[in-house]
Amino acid sequence: MPRPLRHVFVCMQNRPPGHPRGACAQKGCQEILDEFLFELQFRQCFDKVMVTPAGCLGPCGIGPNVLVYPDGVLYANVSKQDVKEIFDEHLLGGRPLARLQAPAEFW
Ligand code: FES
Repeated sequence: MPRPLRHVFVCMQNRPPGHPRGACAQKGCQEILDEFLFELQFRQCFDKVMVTPAGCLGPCGIGPNVLVYPDGVLYANVSKQDVKEIFDEHLLGGRPLARLQAPAEFW
């Protein structure tokens, strides 16, 4: 397996309804993961990008959260509509998206 240029972790954590921390699973993370996997298949860029579902990434209140390594960039409040831009600009273009990055007090 080739070592990917960038590795995307999509938080898939769930918690019971009403839990004080909330959970990305209750805010649409499944469709975000599906969109990343669709874009990966569409672009056939398996040598450059890897996508992995993950447990809680920490700042649940600003989710759905997506973490990209090795850059250490955390994207917050991500929607399905943001995924293509993350792919084009950051994962393949090397330019992290400022507008989606988690505020400094969270990450
Ligand atoms: S539940 Fe997603 S960051 Fe905690």
